[in-house]
Amino acid sequence: MQMYDLIRKTRSRVPLSESEIQWLVTNFTNGSIPDYMMSAWLMAVCCQGLTEAETVALTLAMRDSGITLEHSAYGCVTVDKHSTGGIGDKTTLVIAPLVAACGGHVMKMSGRGLGFTGGTIDKLESIPGFSVYLTAEELEHCVRDIGCCVVAQSGNLTPADKKMYALRDLTATVDSIPLIAASIMSKKLATGADGILLDVKYGSGAFMKTPEDARTLAECMVKIGTAAGKRCRAVITDMDTPLGCCVGNALEVEEAVCILRGEVHSRLYWLCLELAAQMLCLSGKGDVVECRKLAERAVQSGAAFAKCREMVAAQGGDTAVLDDPEQLPQAAVQKTVTAPEHGFIAAIQSEETGLACLALGAGRTADRPEIDPAAGVRFRKTVGDPVTKGEPLFTVYGRTEALCDAAAARLAAAVTISPKAPEKRAMIYAML
Ligand code: URA
Repeated sequence: MQMYDLIRKTRSRVPLSESEIQWLVTNFTNGSIPDYMMSAWLMAVCCQGLTEAETVALTLAMRDSGITLEHSAYGCVTVDKHSTGGIGDKTTLVIAPLVAACGGHVMKMSGRGLGFTGGTIDKLESIPGFSVYLTAEELEHCVRDIGCCVVAQSGNLTPADKKMYALRDLTATVDSIPLIAASIMSKKLATGADGILLDVKYGSGAFMKTPEDARTLAECMVKIGTAAGKRCRAVITDMDTPLGCCVGNALEVEEAVCILRGEVHSRLYWLCLELAAQMLCLSGKGDVVECRKLAERAVQSGAAFAKCREMVAAQGGDTAVLDDPEQLPQAAVQKTVTAPEHGFIAAIQSEETGLACLALGAGRTADRPEIDPAAGVRFRKTVGDPVTKGEPLFTVYGRTEALCDAAAARLAAAVTISPKAPEKRAMIYAML
């Protein structure tokens, strides 16, 4: 087989066979196919697309490029969730213990922050002592006996995706639906859960800018999951505005805890209930109406918060922070910005919020690989809220006055106040 011929075929929309795709992935992973040839093929995919059968074959070949995890020893139905990323997305922190409190078993491998989007692992690491690396025995105990764990990806999982993603990042070939779907689903399938819930975001803070594109990506991923023998569902959700009121690692842990304790009934709370209900359906706990009730009761009864405490303790974290958030990392400087005029909050731009928090230190940059767990923003108002001149709009948290001043200016520009109340946007656009 010649890589040159495969590039020509994809460029001319002649579908590759399963064995050609397997050959391509194996030989790229082991270094036999040079980066320049793979880049040309990735660009051909970006421009011409792949058929459904090619996308499934690519995903399975990527899944099998490294180790794959096996859940059969756990003796229970396991379920996983993937969010395509966004600003202030702390749903995993809520959902993992919530689903476990309702009798589900969640094995969640999460990532660190990428660019301006936050990562669940960075958020959890703001809890003193919390370990995101567990041994196989610890993992089994957490999933089987406690019902949940959230860990970092470790071991040689999907090396083909690591190499391919790095190349896509450098060659303007990230935004291709079959490549994104294969990349995400290869990792989810290698992680081994029986059920997979996909939360596909659209809007200014998401990969997919429109709900239509998000639906196409979601349909593609559900088809791959189903073809691989998994129970798979997708929810398409709004990421035009940050999710919840806090963005930043320790701040988001604090907000997730408030939700688990039933203290906040925000859009984020309702989204978490819906995602948990879908995961419980995938776990065979009933239909979606029954599962929604189960999840709501688990929050009201305190069972979800108790499960969070169990999970944090099992992963070595200090549970005192769950009762007293002041024990989480605290910023040296806090700056509150007030509304310059009367009106309604018409928009809070997600991407700008993410970039402002990144500059504050909540995420990594090439010249600053360390994150500041206390950095971020707490919005005091949300989209649709009325506001009067001089009322607090948001508080910025950071290491220095200069960092906070720069972030405050950027965030002030990201908040639009208008004389008329904006139209309500649904949190959930569609479910598949
Ligand atoms: N997330 C992934 O894991 N892969 C992509 O290609 C895009 C987003």
